[in-house]
Amino acid sequence: MSLFINFEGGEGCGKSVQARSLYRRLSQLAIPVILTHEPGGTPFGNKIGRWLKWAEGIDISPIVELLLFNASRAQLVTKVIQPNLATGKVVICDRYDDSTITYQSYGRGLDLEMVRAINNAATQGLKPGLTVLLDMPVDEGLARKRGKKQDRFEKGDITFHQRVRQGYLKLADNDPERWLVVDASQSKAEIAQIIWRRVSQLLR
Ligand code: TMP
Repeated sequence: MSLFINFEGGEGCGKSVQARSLYRRLSQLAIPVILTHEPGGTPFGNKIGRWLKWAEGIDISPIVELLLFNASRAQLVTKVIQPNLATGKVVICDRYDDSTITYQSYGRGLDLEMVRAINNAATQGLKPGLTVLLDMPVDEGLARKRGKKQDRFEKGDITFHQRVRQGYLKLADNDPERWLVVDASQSKAEIAQIIWRRVSQLLR
């Protein structure tokens, strides 16, 4: 049975760890599953993603971010997500278009409806059946990243990250059927168990 799940959250929330953990659990149960991520997930998208995260000395404006994330996404949807869903797999994506709504609209200030329209063009309207939001206070997430090399987004000031978090909570509030909000300050095992409870229900 195909199911599309994305993992979302602010910096340092632990979503990639949980996406991998769910992938391993499904694989061990012999449930056909793939794990991919944004930005990237295709050779083309990985190149764009490196630019977006690590470009130095270039002023990339919010609208350019919007278009580049969506160029990478359009390739991922066409080449990876749609074909795998079509063969009945579970597709786990570490970030999807909700990241663009929160980072480029709530965070950078781009018009929400414009962002939604461009996201929609890139995804061809494909929405996940489940979106897991790992939520935690911004300062705690950023503290987990301290001491590591910071990308363009991690370098954003705390108010930027607070707007991103508020954006996520608003999206989740507006669509509780699709969103599962998990307190990311719990242990990895506890978080994995909460996610598993929801996923196993959906796969029944
Ligand atoms: P990550 O690989 O640590 O998740 O980093 C990806 C960064 O890119 C993260 O800071 C969020 C940001 N991002 C956006 O701003 N918009 C998007 O659409 C996506 C997918 C990611």
